[in-house]
Amino acid sequence: MTNKKLNLVVSSGAGISAESGISTFRDAGGLWENYPVMDVASADGFERNPALVHRFYNERRKALGRTIPNRAHKILHELEEFFNVYVITQNVDDLHERAGSTNVLHLHGELMKMRAVDEPSFIRQLPSYDAETSVDTVVDRHHMRPHIVFFQEAVPMFEPATEIVEKADIFVIIGTSLVVYPAAALVRYVRPGVPVYYIDPNPGTNIPAGVHVIRAKATEGMAQLTEILKKQLKA
Ligand code: OAD
Repeated sequence: MTNKKLNLVVSSGAGISAESGISTFRDAGGLWENYPVMDVASADGFERNPALVHRFYNERRKALGRTIPNRAHKILHELEEFFNVYVITQNVDDLHERAGSTNVLHLHGELMKMRAVDEPSFIRQLPSYDAETSVDTVVDRHHMRPHIVFFQEAVPMFEPATEIVEKADIFVIIGTSLVVYPAAALVRYVRPGVPVYYIDPNPGTNIPAGVHVIRAKATEGMAQLTEILKKQLKA
């Protein structure tokens, strides 16, 4: 007899990487408190001062090289034994991949990649965490920029993400303030009756009805969720 695995779809935000030492954006002391978001993470900001934007993401990439995945990232990988796990992340770090997760979709781009300024589909991997991009970085005659979805830009991976959410049998939101759209709207694509869990020590106010809130840090919350899921598998 074969038991078909359920689809566990996860939407993660900066909070899942907080216990790895990566700053979130909007918490006290978060990145947007120290850097004006519209200078370093918007299309206008990049046009005004591209050198500053390159420097900002070079720093983020170097910091990423000094961190490692935490228990929450690892539990998501371990759950692949029991579920088809799909991770949709707003994070630009690579900690889900380094923890071993197989299916990771990045909604807001990836720190370890650069892309052509004039051709969004021309994307290249960066060779190391110390690699830097600048206004002078040119590949095959294309000027390159960080592979980050800036504010004021479209989110090309949103539609593929909605198709994954529509297949969810269980949907889990972890460590996001649910203020940035369209990412915050993913939960609307969950089919009726599908259980939704939201793990966050300080959950946002934009919580849809019926969502089970686990008010905890990602590592503790993922441990609690694993117990809940184990009981469901046995039932
Ligand atoms: P935010 O900084 O807006 O929210 C972080 C969330 O993580 C908050 O709800 C915190 O309560 C929660 N949090 C903090 N520590 C945690 C922990 N140890 N465990 C679990 N949760 C914790 O970050 P995002 O919602 O991810 O986009 O931000 C969304 C987007 O805004 C980002 O992808 C980024 C930013 O501008 C771009 O730069 C394109």
